[in-house]
Amino acid sequence: MILVTGGAGYIGSHCVLALLDKGLEVVIFDNLSTGHIETVEKLKQYGNVHFQQGDLQNLSDIQSVFKAYSIDAVIHFAAFSQVGESVINPQKYYLNNVGGTMNLLSAMLLYNVNKIVFSSTAATYGEPEYIPIDETHPQNPINPYGQSKLMIEKIMDDYDKAYGLRSVRLRYFNVAGADSQNRVGEWHEPETHLIPNILKSTFSGGKTFKMFGTDYNTKDGTCVRDYINIEDLAQAHLLALEYLNNGGETNYFNLGTNDGNTVKEVFAACEKITGKNIPVDICPRRAGDPASLVADNNKAKSTLNWTPKNSLEYSIEKAYEWENKLQGALINA
Ligand code: UFG
Repeated sequence: MILVTGGAGYIGSHCVLALLDKGLEVVIFDNLSTGHIETVEKLKQYGNVHFQQGDLQNLSDIQSVFKAYSIDAVIHFAAFSQVGESVINPQKYYLNNVGGTMNLLSAMLLYNVNKIVFSSTAATYGEPEYIPIDETHPQNPINPYGQSKLMIEKIMDDYDKAYGLRSVRLRYFNVAGADSQNRVGEWHEPETHLIPNILKSTFSGGKTFKMFGTDYNTKDGTCVRDYINIEDLAQAHLLALEYLNNGGETNYFNLGTNDGNTVKEVFAACEKITGKNIPVDICPRRAGDPASLVADNNKAKSTLNWTPKNSLEYSIEKAYEWENKLQGALINA
């Protein structure tokens, strides 16, 4: 049985599907503060899924899951992940992300579970010193969100040395797209991410898309990001689990494509795929956005044997299919 914390959220739910598609049994632990019960119900249609609602900040909540199920390994997504909010309310991030993970790890120790795949982030690197960013790039986060994830990475190193609890930390770049069969997709309220925000603006009642900053030192003045497809990302979690099951030592990997696209390029691809002329407001820079973030993914390729397969265009197509479904559901709700 694999425990997936945050399995009702965007990345967690796609990972649960990947586990189910492999025939594995999953227990989702989620407080539903940002995840959705509808997502859990959907996932239950595709395999052996158990659900326990609870909060990682309550030690007894998470201990009860380990008591109730025989857990072999953990994939840990549950966290707050909005950079801007983390600057305004760091306590929320440290209590939940760091404190919650401490409780999870202590339950793992208590029940002798010694393998965890952890959802880390490119935000642990901070302002890039060079591009593409490899795993030896210094980690100097510039916001409490990135800092909280880096603290957890360090805690995990210490827990391996002291207790033999092995971890794989996956540092995501910009995750995009939705399930190829449109079973689940990205559903944040409020939505802050680029692709869903562009797509949402094409629906009636949607807000005009705001493009944040066109004066960066990049090829067209807008920020460059490395968009990694959600299903490719989910596959990396399965490979990380396999790596730990095969005795692999504690490790960390970037998950990205080695390639970047500007906001304007993403916008143009969205217009092409939707066939719509999308209205746009050119706005000032958003605080805390580095000009470029591109992953060097060679370590994940060589060690985990992971190869991202899906293009940005494919991610946008799938995100659009999902957004159509989501808008329909919300309108019919
Ligand atoms: N952008 C817009 N308009 C929007 C939303 C975003 O112009 O409505 C721009 C941003 O300014 C940025 C780019 O699109 O230049 C990408 O922004 P996202 O919010 O989609 O993604 P980020 O790169 O800010 O953040 C993502 C994750 C974070 C993680 C970070 C690590 O969402 O959780 O990558 O690099 F910390």
